Amino acid sequence: MKCKFSDYLNEILVSYNYELVRVLEGVIYLLRVLFIGDIVGKPGREAVKRFLKSVQEEHKIDVTIANGENAAAGKGITKDIADELYNNGIQFMTMGNHVWDNKEIMNFIDREPRLIRPANYPVGAPGQGYGFIRAMGKKIGVLNLSGRVFLPPLEDPFSGAIRWINQLKQETPIIIVDFHAEATSEKVALGWFLDGKVSAVLGTHTHIQTADARLLSQGTAYITDVGMTGPRDSVLGVKKEIIINRFLTQLPAKFELAGGPIQMNAVVIDIDEDTGKAQKIEAIQLLTDA
Ligand code: FE2
Repeated sequence: MKCKFSDYLNEILVSYNYELVRVLEGVIYLLRVLFIGDIVGKPGREAVKRFLKSVQEEHKIDVTIANGENAAAGKGITKDIADELYNNGIQFMTMGNHVWDNKEIMNFIDREPRLIRPANYPVGAPGQGYGFIRAMGKKIGVLNLSGRVFLPPLEDPFSGAIRWINQLKQETPIIIVDFHAEATSEKVALGWFLDGKVSAVLGTHTHIQTADARLLSQGTAYITDVGMTGPRDSVLGVKKEIIINRFLTQLPAKFELAGGPIQMNAVVIDIDEDTGKAQKIEAIQLLTDA
């Protein structure tokens, strides 16, 4: 079929006017995502119960994602605990190096589309490395990756990320990456590597919220570590006396989670629904008095 130049021109003007109207009216449709840092055991689940609803209301959150790899007494997750977290307002969960610590996960991870484990585990590992959530009529892709510095030698998360992101991009421009990693250099490097390719690169695993939440130059929201949701007066969630003694004696010790004040660490990210580019990232910290 032959097309006249005027047909093309008309098409261009229609789409140009549509964009122009949106720009003139200042209409950018934003999706607001809450990502909660590693939920550690019962204190972490109590923090979710205590804070999540009010945070969702106050910040007008559209979709809530959390790292749940420490949710069962600091080691993995069970079906009941996953359900408890979904019932308390979390819509999707990522995992990390503790994913297999509670063997119960083997029984349900393949049937649970709301929970993913690092994509760079070997082929044949149960579960999925990425998934989708629907919110506000949009599809949000979530990719979970594990670092390799001071962690098991999984597949390269850098080259793997490009492959998995290309698959996610066929479905949506809105992509959140949870990079569960130890070394700050590896996390920052992946942030820059994926800048402009995804909506957000969010570090997890080290349980201390870092003060570097920012937008990278090509529109990717970034933070080196979102932090921990669990007992504040602890060493990464564990009773401080146990860890201090371990450093003093170099002897093995059974880990017990700490009590006392509980905290929730998270980030709030605004994402342009059409382009998938982030517009804003803000780190938040909530804490009980006692
Ligand atoms: Fe971890």
